[in-house]
Amino acid sequence: MSDAPSRRDAAIALLAFYREAGIETLLLDAPRDRFAETAAEIERRQANRRSEPTSPSQERRAGRSAHGSQDRVSPSQPAAGAPTGNGTPDSAFPSNRIAIPDDIAVADARERARAAATLAELKELLDGFEGCNLKITAKHTVFGDGPETADLMFIGEAPGRDEDMAGVPFVGRSGQLLNRMLEAIGLKRENVRVTNTVPWRPPGNRAPTPAETQICLPFVQRQIELVAPKIIVCLGSPSAKAILGSAEGILRMRGKWQSYSFDLSPSSTIPAIAMLHPAYLLRQPAQKRLAWRDLLALKARLAETDGESTGN
Ligand code: URA
Repeated sequence: MSDAPSRRDAAIALLAFYREAGIETLLLDAPRDRFAETAAEIERRQANRRSEPTSPSQERRAGRSAHGSQDRVSPSQPAAGAPTGNGTPDSAFPSNRIAIPDDIAVADARERARAAATLAELKELLDGFEGCNLKITAKHTVFGDGPETADLMFIGEAPGRDEDMAGVPFVGRSGQLLNRMLEAIGLKRENVRVTNTVPWRPPGNRAPTPAETQICLPFVQRQIELVAPKIIVCLGSPSAKAILGSAEGILRMRGKWQSYSFDLSPSSTIPAIAMLHPAYLLRQPAQKRLAWRDLLALKARLAETDGESTGN
């Protein structure tokens, strides 16, 4: 008997496993010298910087002075032949997008984030940002969901498979649990802002590396500034560490009120609390009692801030 069917089944099972793990980029027949490509990319970006205007903020300033108006200027264009969207090269596959060293990427992210005056501008600048490897394998940039200004902002870690497909944060099983948690304290998902520290799904749902988190941080920090929530909730340890800079484990950190302070104006702060991540609660349902305590604390604090703002 031929073993062809079982080999085929094995190949199909392997492909299914790759897909499930988020591996969607194929290998090439010929090797690529990525060191040379990186050096060339750095040279190209430095040359761009020398021929003004190049940065989004410079372009914006130049655009304003040239037109004497608030005309929007699009973010710097990708290199010829570079992908125009997530993993969608405008020339032939494979993508010629390459990783750039972290410090250049962080500086670029900061400059872009600072240049954004609205959430729409921030999203556009993030869409044009090529400094994070995670974008290469992600299907969508998952920017944020909910009102542009909201009293409450939830920040998770990174999109999962469902979020990557939909381009919206917290829509999978964790998101459904988050919605139920909100309902339990009388809140509606559509009234809160929801985002992540990292806007692209890491392949195979692995944790984002510290470098990836640092590269993406200026964008979520600027999103916080623009949404200007009254309360921030960090979901899970990676978010609490990145946003609040805490070194403690989540089981120690959760439920304690802290202050989020802005990079540029450290004197203005926002009350922030870390809670257990819904994905963790799905795996450890017994811990929902801790989440319930934190939700009640959140509800009480929201009532206080409502009282303050209405003068009651
Ligand atoms: N987990 C997260 O941290 N964020 C999402 O958007 C979905 C799952």
